[in-house]
Amino acid sequence: MGVTVERPAWAGSDIDLSRPSAARVYDVHLGGAHNFQVDREAAQRIAEVMPGLPQILRANRAFLRRAVRYLTGLGITQFLDLGSGIPTVGNVHEVAWSANPDCRIVYVDVDAVAVAHSRAILSESDNATAVHGDLRRPQEILDNPETQRMLDFSRPVGVLMFAVLHFVPDSDDPAGIIRQYVDAVVPGSHVAISHASLDGEADRAEEATEQFRNRVTDFSMRTRAEITDLFTGLELVDPGVVYLTEWRPDAGDEDCDGKQTSTFAGVARKPD
Ligand SMILES: C[S@@+](CC[C@H](N)C(=O)[O-])C[C@H]1O[C@@H](n2cnc3c(N)ncnc32)[C@H](O)[C@@H]1O
Repeated sequence: MGVTVERPAWAGSDIDLSRPSAARVYDVHLGGAHNFQVDREAAQRIAEVMPGLPQILRANRAFLRRAVRYLTGLGITQFLDLGSGIPTVGNVHEVAWSANPDCRIVYVDVDAVAVAHSRAILSESDNATAVHGDLRRPQEILDNPETQRMLDFSRPVGVLMFAVLHFVPDSDDPAGIIRQYVDAVVPGSHVAISHASLDGEADRAEEATEQFRNRVTDFSMRTRAEITDLFTGLELVDPGVVYLTEWRPDAGDEDCDGKQTSTFAGVARKPD
């Protein structure tokens, strides 16, 4: 007998409540409220084989904060956040606006819940918007009227891909996808990436990969060298591709062994 799930107001009729989604499973791990029983069950299975996951996700959000702050420090005021997820505390627009309230942000996610919720919290804002789209189709994202309305492609853009490229298998050519975004932005633009990796705890990461694949979606952990290759043609800023917690840490950040985050991070500049 099927279980009837009550549909909350923020979940439109196009949202499938019977299957877990990567965005909502992530929301479970961050302690958010925008998820369903199927997502909580999938999250629990994943946490059983990867108990450090909540800490990894917090470290990822801390990297997001430092990277966006670094970019606003360079004078970048426009952000294209690909695979932005369900908004939780410390979103890109909050970090960017705390540096410069004129920053403009386009959130992009393939998950309808993430987009619906982003639109709800951004409804009062003229400087940020959310686009429902698949980052694997760069031209559609770049040509989207909302993207075009919000971003001025004659000025530098921060292209953000936090914790999302591991959902893009090699068969979809992640490097080629990144290149299309890089080709669309002017020199001085930057690309910021965080990416799950096998280089940390290989056995458990492999198990978690299987859990994710079986229960939620495709998942491709990559080595540090493979993640570094994603920045080909760009100039990596110091300290290069390092574990999440090693990328320009702040004094007050959670103290954990970077290797335990099983996630690499880097920021690179499009050269002149
Ligand atoms: C782990 S969350 C990361 C959220 C946020 N970037 C962060 O780092 O906190 C990954 C997000 O990427 C989205 N995603 C996965 N594949 C995608 C694709 N092909 N295009 C756009 N979004 C995608 C998922 O729906 C999910 O919301």
